[in-house]
Amino acid sequence: MTRLSAAWQALEEHYHSTAHLHLRDQFAADSQRFDKMHETLHGLLFDYSKNRITDDTLPLLCELAEAAGLPEKMAAMQHGGILNPSEKRAVLHTALRLPEHAAAVQADGENIVPKVHQELTRALRFAEDIINGSHTGCTGKPITDFVHIGIGGSYLGPLVCIQSLTPWRNHLRVHFVSNADDAGIAQTLARLNPETTLFCIASKSFGTPETLLNARAARAWYQQAGLPEQEIHRHFCAISSNVDAAQNFGITPEHIFAMFDWVGGRYSVWSAIGLPVMVAVGAQNFRELLRGAHAMDEHFFHTDFRRNIPVLMGLLHIWYNNFHHADGHTVVPYSHNMRRFPAWLNQLDMESCGKSRTEYGAEVTRKTGGIVFGEEGVDCQHAYFQLLHQGTRLIPCDFIVPVNTPYRIGSQHCFTVANALAQAEALMKGKTLDEARAELAHLPETEREALAPHKTFPGNRPSNSFLLDELTPFTLGMLMAAYEHKIFVQGTIWGINPFDQWGVEYGKILAKTIEPELSADTPPQHDSSTNGLIAYYRAHLKKQ
Ligand code: F6P
Repeated sequence: MTRLSAAWQALEEHYHSTAHLHLRDQFAADSQRFDKMHETLHGLLFDYSKNRITDDTLPLLCELAEAAGLPEKMAAMQHGGILNPSEKRAVLHTALRLPEHAAAVQADGENIVPKVHQELTRALRFAEDIINGSHTGCTGKPITDFVHIGIGGSYLGPLVCIQSLTPWRNHLRVHFVSNADDAGIAQTLARLNPETTLFCIASKSFGTPETLLNARAARAWYQQAGLPEQEIHRHFCAISSNVDAAQNFGITPEHIFAMFDWVGGRYSVWSAIGLPVMVAVGAQNFRELLRGAHAMDEHFFHTDFRRNIPVLMGLLHIWYNNFHHADGHTVVPYSHNMRRFPAWLNQLDMESCGKSRTEYGAEVTRKTGGIVFGEEGVDCQHAYFQLLHQGTRLIPCDFIVPVNTPYRIGSQHCFTVANALAQAEALMKGKTLDEARAELAHLPETEREALAPHKTFPGNRPSNSFLLDELTPFTLGMLMAAYEHKIFVQGTIWGINPFDQWGVEYGKILAKTIEPELSADTPPQHDSSTNGLIAYYRAHLKKQ
């Protein structure tokens, strides 16, 4: 038996011998449980004590990580090894947040650190020129509105950062257009003045049709406004690794910012893709975001697995996904400003780990990936939390809670924090039938006995709690980097490549066939369902 299969087997046996344990009893039996099962790092507390683990679980999970080669993969990530073999690429998003004078990191035979900082400085300078009004529109007026056009990883990271850092925002309005549905671009343009609007076309490939459709609509809108064509370059910039395509679109090289080949789209907010963040919160705050992410990288690369926050996060995910057969994972920021964090994580995790082939192309033998979803708290308590508490499925939860907020309106934040802590406690403890009966002591017996079962909660439902002293650029950077590394840990243990995304290609190719068929007269040649849908569309489309 290999070391790896022995590690899986040991965990399987451990699962069977501990599956009967209830978290409520484990807390009752060990008053030190929280002390033993939490970590702190630069204003972040990670409490993992409400997980279905004993003192023996983590050593076994750490052995699994070792046996799966996590230490070697971590070293390869740091040193530019090819961690994305299907695309023959290094995976170096961590290099984007290295300090300027960090030791050399080699990719494609050169030290990339100076290049990273050169491009970062260019983007930050451009952002500052927009903020201070020295970059003007074609009529000399300062830019008031920055429209970021991009999708997936070229959209969600910047969006989450900008929303989360609302208290740090300046006077500039930043808009996002991602979807191909024309409602998004139409509604955005309707609010704008072309003289004071700057569009940013963000696409690593510069070939994503949704982004190009919106970019063309934006260009046409500028042109239809009757503003000088030779000045259009003042209103468009681009972020891409395909500089030629961006130039062919008409963007001046001075306003094209490089994305590096060794950074995947969903890991790219730290690159020039972060330009809208730089514009919205300024250079200094963006550097703080990078500093926070780098602090998490340092922790991840240099901390023993047993005390390593992203490693623990990833291992716990494996524990539930592969041994407890959890049905999903929910992440709940108790922060309105972090409301799109779950959407960012949804792409990051599911596009990274939704694989059924190993990195070498063989079929995987264990369940990979996981359904990751979420919503801001407390809203979600009034939506899907019923299922978490009393449903038949196991869905571990991450609670993310800022301790301080800058708003201080009455006791609203205190109420919000109390709810986060209460939900985690309720999920963990549950409520027994006797407790439910006791609560209903005022009712006649028959009524009490009928109602009490509905008021029981199984409990033993696991969660992690992340408390941030404050949601700042630094702590946000740390948290986002922690989730990135968590996913890398999971992918490594499953033996998959978390850095490619071949699965999103097939539908895109079929769409290219279907698009002209929607307005053709000839019968489409698909399955009967697709043919029927096309026929219905053709019959019901209003002629313009
Ligand atoms: O959805 C597939 C995908 O390739 C994502 O991985 C990526 O973030 C998104 O499309 C956008 O890609 P691009 O930045 O090349 O436009």
